[in-house]
Amino acid sequence: MIQISSDISKAIELLNREDVVAIPTETVYGLAGNIYSEKAIRKIFQVKQRPLFNPLIVHIASIDQLEKVAREFPIKAQKLAEAFWPGSLTLILPKKSNIPLIVTGGKDTVGVRIPNHPITLSLLKQLSFPLAAPSANPYNRISPTSSYHVKGYFENTLPLVLEGGECKNGIESTIIGFENNEAILYRLGAISVEDIEKIIGKIQIKNKSETTPNAPGMLAKHYAPKTKMYLLNDIDEFIENNKSKKIGVLKFKGELNTTRFEHIEILSISGDLKEAASKLYSTLHKLDSLNLDIIVAERFPNVGLGKSINDRLERAIK
Ligand code: TXA
Ligand code: MG
Repeated sequence: MIQISSDISKAIELLNREDVVAIPTETVYGLAGNIYSEKAIRKIFQVKQRPLFNPLIVHIASIDQLEKVAREFPIKAQKLAEAFWPGSLTLILPKKSNIPLIVTGGKDTVGVRIPNHPITLSLLKQLSFPLAAPSANPYNRISPTSSYHVKGYFENTLPLVLEGGECKNGIESTIIGFENNEAILYRLGAISVEDIEKIIGKIQIKNKSETTPNAPGMLAKHYAPKTKMYLLNDIDEFIENNKSKKIGVLKFKGELNTTRFEHIEILSISGDLKEAASKLYSTLHKLDSLNLDIIVAERFPNVGLGKSINDRLERAIK
């Protein structure tokens, strides 16, 4: 049985024993283990049922721990780290040789970030090792933004979720790597492209799925609810044509009108994309639990965090 507790010392004890613990971050909850423990890392992959080629993000407490993990730190990476750490930015950097290849999916690079959550920062500061942590969901399922979601997924397979409340940003970190000294954005995330470009100028985006993607989490199907889902520009016509179905609607903003379908969720009444992003996964979890025939989501405006939200919705319908 999984325990939910905000007692950091319990997490420390389990992690020191090479076990795996779910931890809160400002993006989503993570499944954390000691990066130097093969036992812990294998358990992460096994519990999550994640293929071994898909690398894990390494979480550190402060920027001076970076030299333990990465062997190069390009100028643009420094600028981004300065602007956004602790925070929802993962940098892909050439790895130090002592980082086990199982953590990095066999790659010579390592994804690293300093999360911005007081409990997890405090935990990291008290440990003698960084934590590898993918999102705490089974492979291809919706990421967890509360301890309750983690418990739903891993009731019988994990010893502890460190309680840290609802994740403030609610969507995974933005991932940036470097090719020939050029910064490349591999995953749209909690920091918008516009905010990244304010720091380092125009950035190339390679967020689309490939057969051998640089960020394997970018495989087409990901973040998916079990209920069949559609992403549409105009949901009204669809609802009209599917009157016999139990439909749940996911909308960005606007008025409530519940007569034509079973259930509606509005992510931000005032039309704030940050608020919408923070509620996206918890709302998908909720809609997925209502035994609906169909979830229809409205496409978001393609600016700022709207791009990241559309990206996740597109992966949820595949
Ligand atoms: O917000 C987040 O990033 C959360 C929290 C827990 O920190 N973590 C997270 O981890 O989303 P995960 O494993 O679900 O997604 C990490 C993504 C994967 O798509 C993985 O392929 C990519 O990061 N990644 C990690 N290390 C990489 C590397 N060395 N090269 C390329 N991609 C990498
Ligand atoms: Mg994930």
